[in-house]
Amino acid sequence: MALSLWANLACAALVALSLTAIGILHWIRNYGRKLRVMNALRREELRTMLGRSNERTSIVGFFHPYCNAGGGGERVLWTAIASIQRAHPDVLSVVYSGDIDTTKGQILEKVKSRFNISLDDSRLHFVFLETRHLVEDSSWPRFTLLGQSLGSMWLSWEAMTKLIPDLYIDTMGYAFTFPVVTLLGGIPVGAYVHYPTISTDMLARVKSRIQWHTNANNISSSSILSQGKLLYYRVLMYYYALCLRTASFLMVNSTWTKNHIDSILRHSDLLLDIVHSVPPFLLIKLFSSNNAPKSARCVYPPCDTQEISSFVLTNRERVVLSIAQFRPEKDHAAQLHAFKGLLETNPQYNANGTDPVQLVMVGGSRNAEDAKRVVALRRLAQDLGIEQCVKFIVNASYPVVLDWLSRASVGLSTMQDEHFGINVVEFMAAGVIPVVHASAGPLLDIVVPFDGQLTGYHARTPSEFATELHTALSLPPDKEIAIRQRARTWAVQRFSEQEFEKGWNSSGWSTYLQK
Ligand SMILES: *[C@@H]1O[C@H](CO)[C@@H](O)[C@H](O)[C@H]1NC(C)=O
Ligand SMILES: *[C@@H]1O[C@H](CO)[C@@H](O)[C@H](O)[C@H]1NC(C)=O
Ligand SMILES: *[C@@H]1O[C@H](CO)[C@@H](O)[C@H](O)[C@H]1NC(C)=O
Ligand SMILES: *[C@@H]1O[C@H](CO)[C@@H](O)[C@H](O)[C@H]1NC(C)=O
Ligand SMILES: *[C@@H]1O[C@H](CO)[C@@H](O)[C@H](O)[C@H]1NC(C)=O
Ligand SMILES: *[C@@H]1O[C@H](CO)[C@@H](O)[C@H](O)[C@H]1NC(C)=O
Repeated sequence: MALSLWANLACAALVALSLTAIGILHWIRNYGRKLRVMNALRREELRTMLGRSNERTSIVGFFHPYCNAGGGGERVLWTAIASIQRAHPDVLSVVYSGDIDTTKGQILEKVKSRFNISLDDSRLHFVFLETRHLVEDSSWPRFTLLGQSLGSMWLSWEAMTKLIPDLYIDTMGYAFTFPVVTLLGGIPVGAYVHYPTISTDMLARVKSRIQWHTNANNISSSSILSQGKLLYYRVLMYYYALCLRTASFLMVNSTWTKNHIDSILRHSDLLLDIVHSVPPFLLIKLFSSNNAPKSARCVYPPCDTQEISSFVLTNRERVVLSIAQFRPEKDHAAQLHAFKGLLETNPQYNANGTDPVQLVMVGGSRNAEDAKRVVALRRLAQDLGIEQCVKFIVNASYPVVLDWLSRASVGLSTMQDEHFGINVVEFMAAGVIPVVHASAGPLLDIVVPFDGQLTGYHARTPSEFATELHTALSLPPDKEIAIRQRARTWAVQRFSEQEFEKGWNSSGWSTYLQK
């Protein structure tokens, strides 16, 4: 009796929920239809404003709320737009930006001074968004990922109410905006992903209850909380994968990111699949289109190597150079231990030896913790008895960094699982022989053979590093110059603007533009 009552109630609740969900989706679609009618007018206005009212133009929209930040992600954005402007005169680029306190002129000026990229302002427009604070992590002290994801959906909603382009490309990794854009705008979506929002590693970490930066101590020490958090990540991951699959093409910035995005595209979760086979959850699956490619395309971001690659390759000083912020994951201590090992087995490298070698550690110190780390590292150098051979240069200006790059013989990087390592690209472009950790970016993307020959050395433990440092320091002169030259040629070529443009072209973005 009681059982059937509960069953009836549950059924009624499911029906009510489903009807509500259908109602909401129906309303959103209608709203999108109205938006698109009004959008024709907005596009006309835009063409008139840019003085192109009589031309047949397509619009590509770039979702990049922090477009004025001046970092590596922004270099990708502006290089892509410059490439479109060169090759497709009939395409207008629109950037959705949250930098409401700046103007188009100021942004373009910064692009010119920071990246040396000149853009044609008559084929570029900015749509300024008011609600960027919703994607800032300070707005979401709890459930940050969920909050930011919902915030980005709202932000893209605002974007679509202001202008719907013909093709939407997210260049900041806001995958949760894809369904909003698809539903409201009815347009194809693509993305350039720097970093997965949620990675399978994160899930595994919570599962094994390892303490990590997003996993506060007291959560990992309590089983119920841990289970709750696991479910939270599981659900988020499920939806993240659904969102990614609504994209028509995906580019990623490195092999590491590609491996993660590909595994997320293949991600499945039996329990959640079952949950999503009954209404109202079924609707979510019905409405999420599924046209993503099976895998992402790796398109390396362009690096600025112009000045660095003009340094002279000969007569380098006996300097082992490390360029890394004094952050814990850079593992400067391993560098000191490796250098100690090097001096121990090769006494000629000592300050009083016949062939003295110096370790120069250049790096930024951002805060009190970093400063403490520098003090500890200096003490470690003393304890190891190598302080005469080690030089610390804290907060060096860029010209000072360039100066060391032009003088050093060997570059040292000990960070494990670094996704990329722009410092390693700089070593190579400068002709500094890299000795780097055998993991992630430096192993898979950067220090790889060129023409079947070495461009640098890999190691894992301090003693392996010591061995490889010795190898790099004791090369015969002809081999040494050859490897410097090869490393430079490779780095300049692989991370060039032209190579980036080739990759960007082959993503097939232009095939999605309505002609
Ligand atoms: C800026 O770019 C132009 C060509 O695009 C180049 O000739 C010039 O050397 C660059 N300037 C700097 C400072 O890199
Ligand atoms: C890809 O993006 C991530 C996140 O911004 C960054 O850490 C990494 O260095 C980038 N990789 C490349 C190849 O630029
Ligand atoms: C967990 O610990 C942090 C600081 O260690 C504290 O701010 C937070 O309130 C704690 N959370 C819970 C649920 O106890
Ligand atoms: C040179 O210096 C190293 C360490 O600083 C020391 O162990 C060694 O005895 C010195 N050798 C000579 C010949 O002074
Ligand atoms: C390095 O720069 C940071 C911030 O830019 C500053 O707080 C710190 O005091 C500086 N440290 C040194 C040693 O100059
Ligand atoms: C990219 O494609 C455009 C036209 O579709 C072409 O003009 C340009 O040369 C291509 N760039 C590269 C590097 O292949």
